[in-house]
Amino acid sequence: QKTGFIFDLDGVIVDTAKYHYLAWKKLANELGFEFTHEQNELFKGVSRKRCLEILLDIGQVEATQEQFDRWMIEKNEDYLAYIEKMDASEILPDVPKVLQFLKERNVPIALGSASKNARPILEKVQLLSYFDVLVDGNSVTKAKPDPEVFLIGADKLGVAPEHCVVFEDAVAGIAAANHANMLSIGIGNADVLSEAKFIFKDFTEISLEFLEGLLS
Ligand code: G6P
Ligand code: MG
Repeated sequence: QKTGFIFDLDGVIVDTAKYHYLAWKKLANELGFEFTHEQNELFKGVSRKRCLEILLDIGQVEATQEQFDRWMIEKNEDYLAYIEKMDASEILPDVPKVLQFLKERNVPIALGSASKNARPILEKVQLLSYFDVLVDGNSVTKAKPDPEVFLIGADKLGVAPEHCVVFEDAVAGIAAANHANMLSIGIGNADVLSEAKFIFKDFTEISLEFLEGLLS
């Protein structure tokens, strides 16, 4: 039975969380309240629409449908301006090493992200060609922690869910991988990602022997 690998994007391949944060903070400040780094943790892996709902809750702002739609667009335009200049220098440490290792062994690789901006980001950092399958915010109806994004990824890779490995930095993403019956690997803070089967600070801590072990 072959193994498939599924990567989250934001916080796993690139550190776009900082740009999401800046764009949400700008909107919050315009609406007259603060938005902290701790609050930004809750936004990881969460869809744009759900993020805005949470943001407005934090600021106790009531919005008409028209305002809500406008703020969604405004946030995304600010975010796009931040990521416009992204290049390969923003790839997180040792990500290319892992992708290259898997590619050389013909391991099928998917992206499983809530972001609607996933493809342009992969293009900017020049990693698009590593991915056999892209599942992003444009093709998913149920957000993480629902397993949908990863189940679609497994299906498109032609790999059984129980033979898939998922790299995730978000609590909701680890939960989604576990719900999908996949092997979850947390990338980031062990306190936050305690539900993951394995946890690493970043890819520099992952040895090729460890990866090799996941393939057999
Ligand atoms: C990722 C990020 C979230 C973000 C979501 C939607 O999951 O971790 O913080 O809200 O994607 O991103 P988008 O680019 O579609 O606004
Ligand atoms: Mg993420």
